[in-house]
Amino acid sequence: MKQHLWINGKHEESETYVELKSPYAKDLLAEVAIADESKVKAAVDAAADAFRKMKELPAHKRAEILKRTAELLAERKEEAAQIIAKEAAKPIKTARAEVDRTVMTYTFAAEEARRLDGETIAMDAAPGGEKRTAYTVREPIGVIGAITPFNFPMNLVAHKLGPAFASGNTVVLKPATQTPLSSYFIGELFHEAGLPAGALNIVTGKGSEIGKHFTSDDRIKALTFTGSPEVGKKLKQEAGMRKTLLELGSNSAVIVNDDANADEVAARCVTGAFAFAGQVCISVQRIYVHEAIFDEFVSKAVEHTRKLKVGNPLDEQTDVSSLISGDDVDRALAWIEEAEAAGATRACGGKGSENQTIEPAILLNVPSDASLSCQEAFAPVAIINSFRTFDEAIEEVNNSRFGLQAGVFTNRVDLAFKAAKDLHVGGVMINDIPTFRVDHMPYGGVKDSGFGREGIKYAMEELTELKLISFNHAHR
Ligand code: SIN
Repeated sequence: MKQHLWINGKHEESETYVELKSPYAKDLLAEVAIADESKVKAAVDAAADAFRKMKELPAHKRAEILKRTAELLAERKEEAAQIIAKEAAKPIKTARAEVDRTVMTYTFAAEEARRLDGETIAMDAAPGGEKRTAYTVREPIGVIGAITPFNFPMNLVAHKLGPAFASGNTVVLKPATQTPLSSYFIGELFHEAGLPAGALNIVTGKGSEIGKHFTSDDRIKALTFTGSPEVGKKLKQEAGMRKTLLELGSNSAVIVNDDANADEVAARCVTGAFAFAGQVCISVQRIYVHEAIFDEFVSKAVEHTRKLKVGNPLDEQTDVSSLISGDDVDRALAWIEEAEAAGATRACGGKGSENQTIEPAILLNVPSDASLSCQEAFAPVAIINSFRTFDEAIEEVNNSRFGLQAGVFTNRVDLAFKAAKDLHVGGVMINDIPTFRVDHMPYGGVKDSGFGREGIKYAMEELTELKLISFNHAHR
């Protein structure tokens, strides 16, 4: 199958195509178009033209298109899940859960489209402001350049498209090279749902070249990017005065205090560490456990981890499948070796296997300067270290260049509030793992985890400009 570009509501052929193979079985999935400079420009032309129409669409029409897209996706759930499972090697049951979340995300976007409200301002609160009536409105920015990652090829795309369309913008989308088919599938659903031609354009190809176009074409008014800190920082530097929303990586941590139920919490941490083979920005990577329950926690965590089935993403029983690339397998295995050489102990897993898989691994007592601790692993590897005092645990969590979300398990209210105050992250999950996310909550990070917030309502604030209108009725 040839997968063409999607520009101005039509499939657009390209000069060049590359083979897309599934990470697990290496089956040929499609030949995917590579957009050259002229195609990217054509996509921006179409988005700029369509913006005139989109910004005039009333809120109820934008809401209707988003709602219809959600309905169409729900009707074609299995087809969508199969696409994700094949191109991302996401276990099919996890892929189905992603489709459910995507339906929710577009549904929230439809709802939020209807309440893009401003507020009235009490102008007379300041001397000289008497006899003025003022209010604010939120206006769409224009053409948004969106760049999305491979790990949630439908739902993280929905976190770009949903808020952009809900607020009347148009988009040129560059999906991850490894997972373009999910985006093209969604493009067709939006078309069927009545999105004006040109409001969504999808271009695949070389990320650095398309990114360069996004930062050099003045008609692109905002950039929204989810991906690596390195690429995010570069985009930010090149973005100039454009609004830039960056959702970057993390080495997310969880604190397990001595009053936590070791077995239950270990099971929950294992889910958070190994879902989609750890290729989630808020994956549980670092677990800090109070020394009083450390041994019990480790033995339960190992027991739960050993139950996970590694294999073909299309198999209903599979929990963990391939990493997205062979290079990522090599990197993760090298980091495991590095941690062991620095004194860490391997409690289970960590062997590379066929089909780009790694057995889910737990390492103990990993030094804080080992890559497995201080870099983003994005692989099925978690580390467990012990702590003595709660302050020490907070310090460990904060000892990171990242700050996306953190989890804390304790029944002590004083410690929960302390963690809420002292953890330097975008979201603190009390009695849950950092991996917890529902799609309307504000989501984003501090430090190298980026800035700006997703969660439909919050992303709509990022993708709109606030305008003040003031009426002077002192004189006629
Ligand atoms: C991410 O990996 O940034 C997204 C995690 C999620 O949406 O659950």
